[in-house]
Amino acid sequence: MIDPRSRSSHLVGTARKGYKGRASRIAFVQEAIADFHATASIIPSSRYLARAMVKPLPLEEAEVVVEFGPGTGVMTRQLLEIVPTDARVLAFEINPRFVNYLQAEINDPRLEVVASGAENAGVELRRRGYRRIDAVLSSLGFGMMDESTCREIIQGLMPFLDERSVLTQFQYLHGLRWFQNNGNGKHKVEFFDLRTLLGSYFRTVSTTIVWRNVLPARVIACRL
Ligand SMILES: C[S@@+](CC[C@H](N)C(=O)[O-])C[C@H]1O[C@@H](n2cnc3c(N)ncnc32)[C@H](O)[C@@H]1O
Repeated sequence: MIDPRSRSSHLVGTARKGYKGRASRIAFVQEAIADFHATASIIPSSRYLARAMVKPLPLEEAEVVVEFGPGTGVMTRQLLEIVPTDARVLAFEINPRFVNYLQAEINDPRLEVVASGAENAGVELRRRGYRRIDAVLSSLGFGMMDESTCREIIQGLMPFLDERSVLTQFQYLHGLRWFQNNGNGKHKVEFFDLRTLLGSYFRTVSTTIVWRNVLPARVIACRL
């Protein structure tokens, strides 16, 4: 058995520090302009939101961590600051520019950037032989997705979670869902409380508000 102390991430230090925050913001804004619906934000999350997202996760002794929607990696870097030396962080991202960006900018053997949607997480995890996940950090824009897609993503994760696993997801405080109805091509805007959706899968759903972010957001931590 591995002594968790010997797995401390402080010994790795391979995540490149002092990253080009400006370049990452420019890349993010360009992608947001190109496809706001998928990017679901105009700029990357603040470090305050990133810290609040990793805080509830059991990362110190984690073996497998999943991230959904890493973008330019503000949260990925926070994860890599904490996970042990032999942990795996699988980051699912659908935007090819972000995939290339992450692969070029974060040189860390613990990180695998999976160029695939969160919807395929179950298949990709099984393909790699993983049976359980310690932590899931999701920045997906659930407010831009219809409910069946949200549920498909969460249900795909459930076989890999147990009572020790924790999932975090954020939602902007305005609580709006804005999505395109592909049936008639029209946009629809409605109020949507992600806590209710998550609460239908998880026994405990706790929230923390982070004001220092564009836009202020609610971090939702979920446990079975
Ligand atoms: C709100 S941004 C968050 C980016 C970054 N984590 C941050 O906080 O700055 C959402 C990210 O999810 C990605 N994304 C959207 N749909 C996805 C899906 N189905 N599977 C994986 N990633 C997806 C987008 O390309 C984008 O990078």
